[in-house]
Order: sequence, then C-alpha cells, then structure tokens
Amino acid sequence: MNRRMLVDTSMLFVFLLLLDYRYVHNFGHEMLALVFTALFLLHTIWNARWYRALFRGRWPKQRIVMTGIDLLLLFLFLDVMLTGLSFSHTMPIFNIHPPLLVHRLHRIFGFLMLFVMGLHLGIHWQGIWAKMKRAMHIPNTAPVSFLSHASALILAAAGVYSSFLYALGSRLLLLPVRSLARPPTTLFLFLACHLSIVILYTVIGYYGWKWASRR
Ligand code: HEM
Ligand code: HEM
Repeated sequence: MNRRMLVDTSMLFVFLLLLDYRYVHNFGHEMLALVFTALFLLHTIWNARWYRALFRGRWPKQRIVMTGIDLLLLFLFLDVMLTGLSFSHTMPIFNIHPPLLVHRLHRIFGFLMLFVMGLHLGIHWQGIWAKMKRAMHIPNTAPVSFLSHASALILAAAGVYSSFLYALGSRLLLLPVRSLARPPTTLFLFLACHLSIVILYTVIGYYGWKWASRR
C-alpha cells in the first residue's frame, strides 16, 4: 500500500470512528477530528494540483459534476470544523456560546459528509480500483469483474439496511429517533454499518458517473 492509499484509508476510518459520538465520547470525538484534519492536510497537499487547476481549462459536464462533489465535501468539512470549534468542550478557542442552530448545522453537515464522502469515492473509484488491482496483483478477467460488481451490489444492499437500522434519515433531519430504531450497538457494528453506508453512496457515485460519462 503506498502512502496515499494509507492516508486515504486512515481518513475514512478516523471519520467513521469520530461519528460514533456515543462510543468515543466528546474528548475522543474532538481529538479524532484533529487527526482527521491532519490527514486532510496531507490529502490536500498531495492533491494541490487540483486546487491550482480550478481556475484553468475548459469545463465539460463531467468536470462540473466532479468538481461540484469535491467542493461540496470541502465545504461540509470546513463548516463542520468551524461549527464544532465554536462550541468545543475540549478546545474552547472561540469561547462563544452559539445558538442551538449552530449545533444542529454541525450534526446535519457531519451526517451529510457521510453521503458525500461516498460519492467522492465513487467518482474516483476507477482510479482507486486500478491501484488496488496493481498492488494486490488481481488479474483483469471476466470472473474478477463479475465478482467485483456482485460484491458492490451486495455491500450497497447492506448500506440500505444499515441506513434504516441507524435511522439515518431521521438523524439527518434531526427528528426524534424512537428507541426501537436505536440498535444495540458495539463499536464494530457501528463501523461496519456506517462503512456499508459510505459504500452504498460509492456504488451510486460510481455507476452514476459511468452512466453519465457514456451520454
Ligand atoms: C474532507 C474530506 C475530503 C476532501 C475535501 C477531499 C478532496 C479531494 C480533492 C479536491 C481531490 C482531488 C480531485 C481530483 O484530482 O480530481 C481528492 C482526490 C482523492 N480523494 Fe479526497 N477528499 C476528502 C476525503 C477523502 C477520503 C476520506 C478518501 C478515501 C477514503 C479520499 C480519496 C480520494 C482519492 C482516492 C482521490 C484521488 C487522488 C488520490 O489518490 O489522492 N478523499 N480528494
Ligand atoms: C470531520 C469533523 C467532524 C464531524 C464529521 C463531526 C460530526 C458530528 C456529528 C455527526 C455529531 C452528532 C453525533 C450524534 O448525534 O451521534 C457531532 C457532535 C458533536 N461534535 Fe462534531 N464533528 C466533527 C468535528 C468536530 C470538532 C472539530 C469539534 C470541536 C472541536 C466537534 C464537537 C462536537 C460536539 C461538542 C458534539 C456534541 C453535540 C453538540 O454539542 O451539539 N466536532 N459531531
């Protein structure tokens, strides 16, 4: 695994871990957000070319969609950090007590990041999969292609199930979550289910991207 893949994979796992506020508690949540920020800075340095090219070149449909998704993820991340820092318990650097709306926006943007991160991975999946195949010496054969599409669909189905299990729609819209909808969760179950939700949006992003590129 090269250093880029290592940073990207760690980012994803740190992100999923910090989302489990109940398990990692406030201190863990805020510290993991700092780790995520450090990894994000590395990710940004290694993708600096993308930022420099933003104001150059032509804008075909694909580039608009791809850039839109990347910018949306960046926007959500910056908002989640700013709102989080404004009411932080561990690092009260702003020392302000923002209104409830700011807390709500923090949660909504945080959960939205889950979906947009999946879409971000989906539009980059072709490149990621090519690197993975090279690194793991996976051949380019028809059975491998069939198995990878079949596993993607099974994992996406698990993502749909997990979205209902964790009442993600209600949590995103800040509706009260009935106690029945709260599964008896362990950290492993939480991570696995939320990973499957990211994968669901990766699959949507990947097939959506392929479909749009053919038109
Ligand atoms: C706040 C979160 C993130 C932001 C704002 C972000 C932003 C970006 C940007 C701007 C690019 C360059 C796009 C291009 O060249 O077309 C990029 C590339 C990429 N991102 Fe992210 N990203 C984030 C999180 C992640 C995570 C968590 C992963 C992996 C799990 C990831 C995986 C990738 C991959 C594979 C690429 C292609 C280039 C590379 O291998 O680094 N990103 N990202
Ligand atoms: C990538 C960065 C972050 C994401 C995705 C994120 C996401 C979230 C989410 C989804 C919740 C609600 C958890 C639940 O209801 O189960 C939450 C709560 C919280 N977050 Fe973050 N967060 C991030 C960074 C931060 C930072 C940097 C701070 C402070 C320095 C922070 C402070 C808090 C606090 C204090 C709560 C408790 C709820 C509240 O007071 O409204 N978060 N976060």
